[in-house]
Amino acid sequence: MRRVFIEEIASYEGQEVKLLGWLFNRRSKGKIHFLIVRDGTGFLQATVFKGNVDEETFREADHLPQETALELTGRVKADPRAPGGYELEVTGLKVISKPLEEYPITKKDHGIDFLLDHRHLWLRHRRPWAVMRIRDELERATHDFFAERHFLRFDAPILTPSAVEGTTELFEVELFDGEKAYLSQSGQLYAEAGALAYGRVYTFGPTFRAERSKTRRHLLEFWMVEPEAAFMTHEENLKLQEEYVSYLVARVLENRARELELIERDPKKLEPAAQGDYPRLTYKEAIELLEKIAEDEGVEPIPYGEDFGAPHETAISKQFDRPVFIEKYPAKIKAFYMQPDPEDPELVLNDDLLAPEGYGEIIGGSERIWDLELLKKRIQERGLPEEVYDWYLDLRKFGSVPHAGFGLGLERTVAWIAGLSHVREAIPFPRTYTRLRP
Ligand code: 4AD
Ligand code: MG
Repeated sequence: MRRVFIEEIASYEGQEVKLLGWLFNRRSKGKIHFLIVRDGTGFLQATVFKGNVDEETFREADHLPQETALELTGRVKADPRAPGGYELEVTGLKVISKPLEEYPITKKDHGIDFLLDHRHLWLRHRRPWAVMRIRDELERATHDFFAERHFLRFDAPILTPSAVEGTTELFEVELFDGEKAYLSQSGQLYAEAGALAYGRVYTFGPTFRAERSKTRRHLLEFWMVEPEAAFMTHEENLKLQEEYVSYLVARVLENRARELELIERDPKKLEPAAQGDYPRLTYKEAIELLEKIAEDEGVEPIPYGEDFGAPHETAISKQFDRPVFIEKYPAKIKAFYMQPDPEDPELVLNDDLLAPEGYGEIIGGSERIWDLELLKKRIQERGLPEEVYDWYLDLRKFGSVPHAGFGLGLERTVAWIAGLSHVREAIPFPRTYTRLRP
């Protein structure tokens, strides 16, 4: 008999199939037991009718505890009353293993700390399941999007000798004989080498930030997608970001509608983001907007020249129904590698993309300095050790061209699209200021 997966069950209507999975929930109505079974690809109602199976199996089916591992055989039936529209009419049931202890996650309302302590088991439940399926769709969509646009997947190292963003957020690792390395904050510098080697590349890997923040948008370890393209301008960079983010949202709306429904995320709220046409503000305009809305949003306005904090981003992003760009920040508050704006060299050709509904920054990007002398000057001004950037400076000596790129934080994007209140639910095993386990 054919082993099938729950997500493809509709195409087996009327057929006898085999299902391997776990008991998630059950209830009984005299001559019928309803088993809710999960197999990782979905949840399915399996009905055990008295008479369809032998006496002992029928009796056993009413006593199986949650997380019993099962092999089920039966006929697939369309039933509008069944969640998902299909059910399995069971003809055979084999127990593969039974829980050795009482399963700790019950139907009562557990606090978030209890659930996170049991994350290794909590992952089995419906909500984390739906979120991981959305995350998976975003990863898959990312590879499709860039592959279709001549970008080569390019893996950056995790152990690195130098900072990319702020030096205060580095995790130090001891290698051998006292030699130090840092966990990568960003693959960007390596992506730049990749762009000059292969034209267009993107990295997709874990990145690390030693941030002592307990906000709902900070992880110590998160996954970042970092496209980098030779000859790409600031303008084209923004276009690519808009195209990419609207593609991501459209893919989730198309392929993960059931998951959105399960976690009660209204797809209407995501539709504008799938359409594109993202508004743009300059840094200066954003400062002015903030001044206007500060009182209503309950935040302090900030003086020109300071960077936005999370509450400011929240306030600004609530004003729009889709992501909004903030571009051209003062060079002083941004990273050393950003290309000056030819119209005002105090500014840089960069952008942050803020997700709506208060979610805030999901992307940071910029054109990069491609002139050797200017780049050296910036490294010196920031007091960075020039010798560790010698290879990076080489990129400006041989075939240097204007180039640009950006970094999208996967967990923040998942959190926004899935409507989560905290990024810790957007990754299988979150690492935060207060959590390393499980
Ligand atoms: O704005 P960031 O720091 O930009 C860079 O690292 C650039 N080198 C990217 C590039 O141009 N190649 O980080 C980019 C994104 C942020 O917009 C945010 O989505 C995410 O990474 N991010 C975090 N996500 C979760 N937890 C944290 N602590 C994060 N820090 C940044
Ligand atoms: Mg940023």
